[in-house]
Amino acid sequence: MRRFLAIVVGALVLLVAPTAAAAPPTLRALAARHDIRIGTAVDMSALAADPVYRRQVGSEFSTVTAENVMKWEVLEPQRGQYDWSAADRLMAFARQHGQAVRGHVLVWHSQLPAWLTAGSFSSDQLRQILRKHIFDTVGHFKGRIWQWDVVNEAFNEDGTLRDTIWLEKLGPGYIADAFRWAHEADPSAKLFYNDYNIEDVNAKSDAVYQLVKTLRAQGVPVEGVGMQAHETVDYTPTTMRQNMQRFQRLGLDTAVTEADVRMVMPPDAAKLGAQADVYRSMLSDCLATDRCISFTVWGFTDKYSWVPGTFEGQGAANLLDETFTPKPAYDAVRATLAAKEHRG
Ligand code: G3I
Repeated sequence: MRRFLAIVVGALVLLVAPTAAAAPPTLRALAARHDIRIGTAVDMSALAADPVYRRQVGSEFSTVTAENVMKWEVLEPQRGQYDWSAADRLMAFARQHGQAVRGHVLVWHSQLPAWLTAGSFSSDQLRQILRKHIFDTVGHFKGRIWQWDVVNEAFNEDGTLRDTIWLEKLGPGYIADAFRWAHEADPSAKLFYNDYNIEDVNAKSDAVYQLVKTLRAQGVPVEGVGMQAHETVDYTPTTMRQNMQRFQRLGLDTAVTEADVRMVMPPDAAKLGAQADVYRSMLSDCLATDRCISFTVWGFTDKYSWVPGTFEGQGAANLLDETFTPKPAYDAVRATLAAKEHRG
């Protein structure tokens, strides 16, 4: 009987094997096994013009972030005149593909409309302008955003508050106000503080820790900390797990929100190997932390990366090269997700 069963099972395996072999699981399917979402920033021009890009965004990722089109300068280029069109296209795409959306970004010092930065508003006026921006934007997408980056990059490297238009005119209380307004506008969105160079335990992440701890103690609805994770091949964060876990102990979610790992051009085998190690290490830290709920890369192909435009002579920061060919970093991410990881 056993022998008969083995033959039947063997025959069935032969019948189904070709189909199974033809479709290896996508990154998003592998990530789902760990109960996290894997995401990418989306360049809306590429999404419209490049069918390969479009197909891969749709198939490989379970969460998307607008690289630029939910920023204030894009949403309200003239005061009072909103342009939701590009952001709405991303929302529609995400819906079609069963993807959760990270909203990026409500309060930041960069990519603000000229009417705002050039206008000489009083503190009261500016406070009303910020309040309206948050209510209008969060309200527009109400019920459809998974995580909002409410406040982005508010700290300097030494842990002092960054000198921005918001700090200067509104004082440090703008941070708590922004979270309260965002929560009022959409109680269902998870509200994040987001920053770079806070992957490790350091002066800047200590300041973020103190901020969110204080806010939570005051009942301010901050629910997560986003670690951008713009890295270089020369350095792997060493205390990221420990750092994520201290935020977890405060009752907060964490997320890797903008991962990329740049190198001095041109790439070679050693640099690509080092790059794979950095991605692998950060993803493993996230997987090892129960409340790390998503791992988002800031673009997945070198074809559309912000890096060369900002860091002269550097690039190749993404998982796929400019022809969409997987690099060792892609294989590392896939293997890390495919391995049985333990969370906790
Ligand atoms: O919108 C104009 C367009 O009209 C013009 O034709 C074009 C010509 O260069 O420029 C366009 O604006 C550019 C914009 O991206 C949209 O493509 C800006 O010059 C360019 O500076 C801007 O760069 C973005 C950058 O944020 C601005 O700070 C990058 O694409 C985007 O990847 C980057 O993302 C940030 C996150 O939001 C926050 N964390 C850091 C991360 C990397 O800097």
